[in-house]
Amino acid sequence: MKIRKVVIPVAGWGTRSLPATKNVPKEMLPVYKKPTVQYVVEEAMQTGITDVVFVNNQNKRIIEDHFDYNLALEAVLERMGNKEMLQEVRKVAQMVNIITVRQKEQLGLGHAVLCAKEVIKDEPFAVMVGDDLLFDHEPGIKQLMEVALTENMPVVGVVDVPREKVSRYGILQAEEFAPDMYRVRGMMEKPRPEDAPSTLAMVGRYVLTPEIFTHLENLAPGKGGEIQLTDALQLLAKENRLLAVKLKGRRFDTGDWVDYLSANIYFALQDKALRSELIENLRSLLPAS
Ligand code: UTP
Repeated sequence: MKIRKVVIPVAGWGTRSLPATKNVPKEMLPVYKKPTVQYVVEEAMQTGITDVVFVNNQNKRIIEDHFDYNLALEAVLERMGNKEMLQEVRKVAQMVNIITVRQKEQLGLGHAVLCAKEVIKDEPFAVMVGDDLLFDHEPGIKQLMEVALTENMPVVGVVDVPREKVSRYGILQAEEFAPDMYRVRGMMEKPRPEDAPSTLAMVGRYVLTPEIFTHLENLAPGKGGEIQLTDALQLLAKENRLLAVKLKGRRFDTGDWVDYLSANIYFALQDKALRSELIENLRSLLPAS
């Protein structure tokens, strides 16, 4: 079976990235020359996913507009003879089919995924959270898909984090059954370093099956009054129905300012037109030692 659809929840408030996100969705903050969400959609596209389901709210329509044609702008670029940019701008509208569903109240990531139930129907599907960007290896979501399809199980993507940072993540209790593959036995949301059952942290990549919807529907609101995806995953783990895969590649958490800025520099350094001047500027910004 193929995985054709990805759910990308984008309806949150982005409070960690304020004041930048007062009116601009955090998913539209640029990393180098593209909005963050475009990297996520490109990752999905590279795995053969054809349909992107944005779970959105009424204030962030600009996200789906980014993946549509902008005919007025295209006419201007055509008149200017700027073929290269015209192609670049058009390409974004041609990447994937966009389906938007509304999350009318921001009741958490689990609730956002549940909003996509009627579009997903009875197929396995991917969930990708735009905060986490993964590069330098085969697409993160593809690494999960292969395992999900061969084992016929839902799979979450994890990375190893330093123990002092576990309190930022959902941390797994898991057993390794093959190199970098785990059976998930349980999980703790944002544990203290001394309580964490491991240092395997969930990042925003999942391949799920429709069974998750039944769990989400039956969940009582958890932490912060929200329907937490982690609580539904915990139920799958209790039924021995959840695997994890350690993701390979370089990861940036764009909701964290240091990682966000590092991601910008990382991409700019790969652009030959900018590289040497940028390095010079960065050097001049460092205090002399
Ligand atoms: P986060 O909790 O990281 O996002 O949710 P947030 O609420 O936007 O950000 P902060 O923590 O306040 O800075 C992970 C993803 O789930 C989406 C968010 O848009 C984000 O991409 N989300 C979260 C929803 O779509 N709906 C929600 O109710 C909550």
